[in-house]
Amino acid sequence: MTLVLRARDVHKTYRTDPPVPVLTGVDLELRAGERVAVVGRSGSGKSTFLNIVGLLDTPTSGQVELLGQDTGALSAHARDRLRAGTLGFVFQEHHVLGHRTVAENLEIAASISGTPRARRPALVSAALARVGLTGRQQALGRLLSGGEKQRLVLADEPTGS
Ligand SMILES: Nc1ncnc2c1ncn2[C@@H]1O[C@H](COP(=O)(O)OP(=O)(O)OP(=O)(O)O)[C@@H](O)[C@H]1O
Ligand SMILES: [Mg+2]
Repeated sequence: MTLVLRARDVHKTYRTDPPVPVLTGVDLELRAGERVAVVGRSGSGKSTFLNIVGLLDTPTSGQVELLGQDTGALSAHARDRLRAGTLGFVFQEHHVLGHRTVAENLEIAASISGTPRARRPALVSAALARVGLTGRQQALGRLLSGGEKQRLVLADEPTGS
């Protein structure tokens, strides 16, 4: 099967005082269709690792290849595009923008993932209808319940990736 993700010798030290060495040489290979659970005690670095392989953060050293691309060689903009176009996230803490409406939250995500402006309203409506939030389009993000916030996962071609 296609190699989707390869992390090699990933190190991460947060540059706090004193510095916190969290990851010290993590390797992972993921092929299409595989499901992997990252398990460890609280504070062991699971979210740190997911942030790095999810291109939200960079490793202190080591490589992350996504779909054959060495992500360390990409510009910040190219990394954002790759992330928005290929990765889905369910965050430990939701990241719904509280001061924007539900519809605006999704429009921003669609914009980052490169959906042309004209296609965004239909995509947003369809996404909200799928998760039963049609009536909440104009509600501010911060007014949603915890469970409603968790439904705002914008999946462009969910069966493709
Ligand atoms: N931005 C940061 N700056 C400094 N230290 C951090 C930062 N983020 C996380 N840490 C520290 O790095 C360590 C790993 O944190 P991380 O959130 O990756 O753990 P986790 O395995 O996801 O834990 P949990 O199961 O509690 O969610 C912790 O000691 C945490 O305090
Ligand atoms: Mg965590």
